Amino acid sequence: MPLNKDSLPNTFLVATVLCLLCAFVVSAASVTLRPLQLANAQKDRRSNILQVSGFTPEEIEQDGGVKKVFESRFEVRIVDLDTGNDAQAECQAAMDKAKDRVVNLSEEYDQLWASKTNPNKGLSEKLEKKADVCGIKSREKFSEVFIMNSEDGKPELYVFPVRGNGLWSLMQGYLAVKPDFQTVVGLTFYQQAETPGLGGEVQNPDWKALWTDKKIYEDGVVKLAVIKGNKPGNDYGVDALSGATITSNGVTNMIDFWMGDKGFGPYIKQMQNQDSSEAKTSLAGGNNVK
Ligand SMILES: Cc1cc2nc3c(=O)[nH]c(=O)nc-3n(C[C@H](O)[C@H](O)[C@H](O)COP(=O)(O)O)c2cc1C
Repeated sequence: MPLNKDSLPNTFLVATVLCLLCAFVVSAASVTLRPLQLANAQKDRRSNILQVSGFTPEEIEQDGGVKKVFESRFEVRIVDLDTGNDAQAECQAAMDKAKDRVVNLSEEYDQLWASKTNPNKGLSEKLEKKADVCGIKSREKFSEVFIMNSEDGKPELYVFPVRGNGLWSLMQGYLAVKPDFQTVVGLTFYQQAETPGLGGEVQNPDWKALWTDKKIYEDGVVKLAVIKGNKPGNDYGVDALSGATITSNGVTNMIDFWMGDKGFGPYIKQMQNQDSSEAKTSLAGGNNVK
């Protein structure tokens, strides 16, 4: 009997086989390309860290590319946001347990993912409404801090990962500050989907340049904000983006949260205490010499 190619069962069979084949190709591509995607995402984040720290693309190119410059100039610490303590080992243990294998933290620790895990995995913390000023609902327990050291090993600047909601999107970026933890070096975003020309102007180099040398705290409280009708010369204010008050407020809230007690506040306090006790020790040393 001749095979009827146009019969209903045959049509279904061909469609099913085609679907299965396509699904296989797409999932194989997704699995095999995943490491490449992760590496590219990391390169992009590192390139943003370098850029917010003042490296020009030409300098990066000349000095051997993003990986080389980043690895030679930056130290990566993992800190417990609640206490401000170094928490590399705790983060490693929690990640290994959550993924049920030994995780390569430097390549695989995804803070956004960690912030959304179940709090009983020890990687995240639900935020109370009052504390959640930038609308992220839950926060990771451990965060990376990037420290750029001088050749003699002294910190020259600190880069903090920050994020918060704008009008349409979660804006993810980096805030670089001087070792006084008071003066901004720069702010940049590596991920945002605000409207181009309105909220998307957070990525405008002219607007980002306004952040340099702004001050963060007054009497220990975060005062730095994006302000509509900001006065020239205001050390604590950055001009709001016109027609984008919601995005502008999102950036203010983001700074407020991440520089405050629920963000890097405890870490910054620790570092400042450490600096002042080192200064006292060296003063005492000086007295002894006298
Ligand atoms: C299509 C469209 C896109 C918008 N995109 C943004 C945006 O990305 N960020 C923002 O804050 N406001 C955006 N707005 C404007 C807000 O709805 C709101 O009017 C504005 O934030 C108020 O800012 P203003 O007080 O500076 O006018 C957009 C409005 C429209 C109609």
